[in-house]
Amino acid sequence: MADVPKLVFGAISAPSRGVLVVFCDDGLKFGPATRKVLGAAADLVQRAAKSERFAGKRGASLDLIHPEGMKLARLTVVGIGKAAEVKPRDFVRFGGVAMGKVPAAAAEATIVAELPRGSMTADEAADLAQGALLRAYAFDRYKTRRKDEDKAPDKRTLTIAVGDAGTVRRAYARREAINDGVTTARDLVNEPANVLYPEEFARRAAALKKSGLTVEVLDVRAMKKLGMNALLGVGQGSAHESRVVVMRWNGGKKGEAPVAFIGKGVCFDTGGISIKPAASMEDMKGDMAGAACVTGLMQALAARKAKVNAVGLIGLVENMPDGNAQRPGDIVKSMSGQTIEIINTDAEGRLVLADVIWYAAQRFKPKFMIDLATLTGAIIVALGQEYAGMFANNDELAERLAKVGEETGEKVWRMPLAAEYDKMVDSKFADMKNTGGSRWGGAITAAQFIKRFVDDKIPWAHLDIAGTGMDSRQNDINRSWGSGWGVRLLDRLVADFYER
Ligand code: BES
Ligand code: MN
Ligand code: ZN
Repeated sequence: MADVPKLVFGAISAPSRGVLVVFCDDGLKFGPATRKVLGAAADLVQRAAKSERFAGKRGASLDLIHPEGMKLARLTVVGIGKAAEVKPRDFVRFGGVAMGKVPAAAAEATIVAELPRGSMTADEAADLAQGALLRAYAFDRYKTRRKDEDKAPDKRTLTIAVGDAGTVRRAYARREAINDGVTTARDLVNEPANVLYPEEFARRAAALKKSGLTVEVLDVRAMKKLGMNALLGVGQGSAHESRVVVMRWNGGKKGEAPVAFIGKGVCFDTGGISIKPAASMEDMKGDMAGAACVTGLMQALAARKAKVNAVGLIGLVENMPDGNAQRPGDIVKSMSGQTIEIINTDAEGRLVLADVIWYAAQRFKPKFMIDLATLTGAIIVALGQEYAGMFANNDELAERLAKVGEETGEKVWRMPLAAEYDKMVDSKFADMKNTGGSRWGGAITAAQFIKRFVDDKIPWAHLDIAGTGMDSRQNDINRSWGSGWGVRLLDRLVADFYER
């Protein structure tokens, strides 16, 4: 597997080989240190810009191969657009764009962390490095052949050239922990379901004990004892046993109630007896993106020794059609005691969450809880892939999530909850049914269903990440399908609550 490059922070000087990436604004203006590095080549850049009609627009770039007067293989100039419009959240993106200009075959690359106005702050340069490494991620462990131009050298080095390497290195430490969490989440989402089934997922989560997490795995027997029949019903048609994993990180005040993160972990969703059509069904290997995010987040919190008590709970099942599979019309009794009529076995995620959310609240009495789930196609119809759907019983939590969403670029859009929608999940035969009975407002009725398992005294938010957790469009900081969406968002939320 092509590893991400080794990251080095160094002083700003003209590198004598490899690829050099520098930034300019829409006036083709460079920072003072960058000008020094370019030396006589600065004039060459101006001429090349003219003939290539490169104007320094945000995200645009100009490549010079073996630029005269420099010893480099390649010089790339990346535009930042109007310097005055650059916002703190842009630096991760800039890092991604810069890294994207480095050919896979390059053994050495240097990015100069300077804007026309001068040196980047430690946080800006560390964000730049974070974005560059997120961009460098590739999931290629199953590729046994490769085109020549994609062949990566054994060792790749990325140097971030900065004014004060020491402070930037320190600022980067927590981002490294977060990136490792994002990588974990992406890997889990990208893994195929023949490799990553509930027990294997649980094993990988348990391996995070080495990061300092306490990890407990509940097997079917334990879940039966607890009465998690809503979750168990989903998994009963699978050859693979279901699991619930509880991950804990206690970095906060002793005895203080934890915050709780709950993830939908449907390792593969065929739809069950209400089977899905064949087109794109392979994407349903990623129906555990919520659980992947929770796992990556918990790893990140532990690795950066966050000053918080946090629990992560994931419900791991496989939804298969089978002689033992659950049927439409079946009625199950959830751990909460409430009964559920199964109308559609493809509305399985909410059944898993119902029991895990209930369990989390009973056992941990959390300060707030947030669940993440690739829950409905309807949220993709509503919001596309830019924003995740957010449902909340608490305005403060919703506002904080919206704010950190804008800051990290993992954006959430609040959707409504209301008694009229709640009524739609009433059932003739049981306390509720597992669909709203109509496709209209499908993401909302799903959220209303989950809300019936939430104690309104606990602030709660539900994030429907069906559109954001898997993403085949490539963007500046992710070229792979699994996005790792939510790790940076929730890490920032925790920091906002506990560390500011
Ligand atoms: N995992 C799917 C939702 C999904 C769809 C995620 C596409 C990502 C991409 C979920 O379990 C599901 O099948 N939901 C149904 C619910 C319906 C049967 C009420 C849906 O959205 O169609
Ligand atoms: Mn489904
Ligand atoms: Zn599903």
